[in-house]
Amino acid sequence: MLIHSASQLLTLAGGPQRGDELGRLGIIPNGAVLIRNGIIEAVGKSDELRAAYPDEPDFDALDRVVMPGFVDPHTHVIWAGDRAAEFEMKLEGKTYLEILAAGGGILSTVRATRSASLNSLLDQTRLRLWTMFEHGTTTAEAKTGYGLKTAVELRLLQGLLALDREGPIELAFTFLGAHAVAPEYKDRPDEYTDLICETMLPMLKEWWPNHAPQHPLPFVDVFCENGAFNLEQSRRILTTAKQLGFPLKIHADEFGNLGGVALAVELGAVSADHLVLTSDEEIQLLGQSDTVAVALPCTPFGLGERDYTPAKKILKAGGILAIATDLNPGTAWCGNMQFAIALACRYMGLTPAQAIAAATINAAAAIQRADRIGSIEVGKQGDLIILDVEDYRHLGYRFGVNLVKAVVKKGRLYPV
Ligand code: NIG
Ligand code: FE
Repeated sequence: MLIHSASQLLTLAGGPQRGDELGRLGIIPNGAVLIRNGIIEAVGKSDELRAAYPDEPDFDALDRVVMPGFVDPHTHVIWAGDRAAEFEMKLEGKTYLEILAAGGGILSTVRATRSASLNSLLDQTRLRLWTMFEHGTTTAEAKTGYGLKTAVELRLLQGLLALDREGPIELAFTFLGAHAVAPEYKDRPDEYTDLICETMLPMLKEWWPNHAPQHPLPFVDVFCENGAFNLEQSRRILTTAKQLGFPLKIHADEFGNLGGVALAVELGAVSADHLVLTSDEEIQLLGQSDTVAVALPCTPFGLGERDYTPAKKILKAGGILAIATDLNPGTAWCGNMQFAIALACRYMGLTPAQAIAAATINAAAAIQRADRIGSIEVGKQGDLIILDVEDYRHLGYRFGVNLVKAVVKKGRLYPV
């Protein structure tokens, strides 16, 4: 298929964008892209490609923006139930960590998820994945973390693997058994940490190749936070995971700064996420590392907070910045990357071009897939979106409506 007559074809060519390089869109005016068997075979000017491939089935983009599909590198998409009542409690003055300490928050979603049937859990999750896809996300990372028991955490991974097979959205997998201390281990976080290190991770290492032979090992993530896992426990979990060969991620500096960023950089984590309260020294460390800084602007927005990730400082330090939605039932029930971009422009000070690069090629780097997705380049997967706008800056500028007109996943067109 030849997609042509794009007002602006944003290629994002040239790999992940570090520091003030961020925002290099690689725009081809009146651009075109040829996709065959799901893979991009040619990229260029419309007149040239139409002349070179006269017999190719074509799709007229009608002078609209064509760009890579969004990559959402941080979601908690698989859960059951909702926390609407807690949203109201928060508005009446309770904090997120107070609700968690009282057995609500993540633990209330754990109860709902454990007691849901697999079918109901998959139905609820599938709907959210379709909404993400319709809003332009062609690949998303998805974390477990609402099971907190070996068998349930593995069931969540099994569910995610099934949803990935169904498509059309593709998933990258993360084991987040360390999302909260399981209720069975209340006030015994060290013992739950032992369970993760001594049972869950070794078991996962054996389980994975038998259930997902076509996928590399999943990421292992930890919620390093007051009321969840302290720095010492986070270090044990991530070190054990690293020794077993898992790639690493961390939730750091969302509500408190426990030193998670320095740990992530020391262990060579693929990404460190949230980073609202990260210190200047830690930002320097990040800037000198290959650990991707993943900002989640829907989270402070969802909580009605004022502080966002200091993106400009991270860029000044030379960091690789990505953005994600953090889709989850507690802090940010939003799987729309267009909205994350709109927030990043306003509260993190990014330009639309910077936010777009953070949501595509750099987001792909945050899940170790920048070699396959995140840009429109020959040899990459044919994952792209057609927006109902002529100029890319409408992304970020406009919000609250879906600007995606059509999604192309592995070369197949889905009108929205
Ligand atoms: O990224 N921080 C931990 N996890 C989510 C919240 C999950 C929940 O509240 O259910 C987050 O904000
Ligand atoms: Fe999260």
